[in-house]
Amino acid sequence: MLLGKTSNHSAVPHSPILAPSLLAGDHAHLAASARLIAEAGISWVHLDIMDGHFVPNLTFGPQTVTALRRNSSLFFDTHLMLDEPHRYIEAFAKAGSNLISIHIEPSYDHRATLARIRALGCQNGIVLNPGTPAEAVRDLLPEVDLVLVMTVQPGFGGQAFRPAMLEKLTTLDAWRREGNLTFRLEVDGGIDLVTGSSCRRAGADTFVAGTSFFSAADPRAYAQAIASW
Ligand code: DX5
Ligand code: ZN
Repeated sequence: MLLGKTSNHSAVPHSPILAPSLLAGDHAHLAASARLIAEAGISWVHLDIMDGHFVPNLTFGPQTVTALRRNSSLFFDTHLMLDEPHRYIEAFAKAGSNLISIHIEPSYDHRATLARIRALGCQNGIVLNPGTPAEAVRDLLPEVDLVLVMTVQPGFGGQAFRPAMLEKLTTLDAWRREGNLTFRLEVDGGIDLVTGSSCRRAGADTFVAGTSFFSAADPRAYAQAIASW
């Protein structure tokens, strides 16, 4: 085709964002862990919410998020690992979440829930487990602020990164460019400076890191390394 098309690769890539996961922080002193993130010059924090059904683990709920909000001005990137996320959107929005992401796998009205998140004044995100193909979210891409590709099976921190997810990132990034879409492409699970930079090359721009961030000798240097990608 000679006419009517300029470039498929015109979209300006987002600058990288690090979102440390409080799951790997000190659960007796979550506010102190959030402070450590802010003091490292980072603006996002990732909050992992688990219901014991969608994933075989439990974490914390809106009451804890409300308490954290009183102690932190970080951007709250709230990852709902829930069978029935639509029942809790409002509670997490009121608690002070800035972005709420929901999984595609359980059956509920994904489109309506994504719209509801925005109507409540938050950014929205859709999440795919490792076994879920990119095609499962393709129709929703024009309606989301963020796509989260799980690079481990969700439920626990400290698992090994799955390199097979790089291809899914490449596909989603290509669809983003082709559609001139602007959603962020986030990765979560087993991310460190090595696996994260592979994800960056595959199109990711938003990096959740639990274990690797909280075990870093110099959190500020860790954050600066990601900012330079
Ligand atoms: C896993 C959570 C992750 C977790 C990542 O279910 O969604 O956010 O905190 O932890 P690491 O970085 O240790 O793999
Ligand atoms: Zn997460």
